[in-house]
Amino acid sequence: MITGASGGLARAVAKQLADHDWRLALITRYAGKLDIGSYDERQAIIEADVSTSSGAASAFEQCVDRLGQAPTALINCAGSVLMSPLHRTREKHYRKCMQANLDTSFFTLSAFVNACLERKQAGVAVLVSSVTARIGVGNHEAVAAAKAAVESLARSAAATYSKHQIRVNAVAPGLMRSPATEWLFSTANNTRQLEAQYPLGRYGNVEDVASTIAWLASDEANWITGQVLPVDGGFTAVRPLQRAV
Ligand SMILES: NC(=O)c1ccc[n+]([C@@H]2O[C@H](COP(=O)([O-])OP(=O)(O)OC[C@H]3O[C@@H](n4cnc5c(N)ncnc54)[C@H](OP(=O)(O)O)[C@@H]3O)[C@@H](O)[C@H]2O)c1
Repeated sequence: MITGASGGLARAVAKQLADHDWRLALITRYAGKLDIGSYDERQAIIEADVSTSSGAASAFEQCVDRLGQAPTALINCAGSVLMSPLHRTREKHYRKCMQANLDTSFFTLSAFVNACLERKQAGVAVLVSSVTARIGVGNHEAVAAAKAAVESLARSAAATYSKHQIRVNAVAPGLMRSPATEWLFSTANNTRQLEAQYPLGRYGNVEDVASTIAWLASDEANWITGQVLPVDGGFTAVRPLQRAV
């Protein structure tokens, strides 16, 4: 099950998992936003808003109806990117940010572990955090707080459900070029500035993060749980030499 299915990261994850023969339940709030022609019968497009408990439950019920089974893997790509300094962040933007990032993670993970426990089946979940949860990045207070909560959620759930063979991990991406961030690349100079922030000399692509998610969801990672894996070109790990001008 992949949530936020119309988004840049979700589409890349869906492609990589489909290439590895996964059957996919693609969850979106607006099915009309997905190009149905590009999906095959091993994939169900399911309309649900997973930012509520009832919406998440509906996504799982529809998945069983359409694919004949509950998901064995959950990838919660639903989320948002909010660049706004704390003193300018209105309550409605804060609430929307928590809803998109934390509520979707909480309610989909809750529905997922319930489905696994009911069926006594193993499972794997991957949540999506951000570098902003791990290091102070200016003007990201709301999303930083939401993603830090997502990371804690992943660790606590990993502890609770490891005895049921349910693995829970997260990835923490740096900047990925996607529909959510395209506006940042409006000029060549802006693009160069963004590239310069990353020790490996480039910003990320959704494919960089999708391949890590696909690996965490695979059996190759079956001894990994409770981890948050940064996928960020070195942004949170190394500090390049700063030159005085
Ligand atoms: N892009 C970056 O640089 C970056 C960096 C770090 C972390 N991330 C995280 O990576 C994930 C994917 O980002 P992306 O770049 O692919 O963004 P995106 O293209 O905007 O996709 C996110 C998707 O989440 C769903 N969504 C948004 N608000 C929602 C809400 N309130 N309730 C339920 N679903 C909602 C939407 O899908 P539907 O309309 O289909 O439901 C949307 O297309 C997000 O969690 C984001 O925070 C992104």
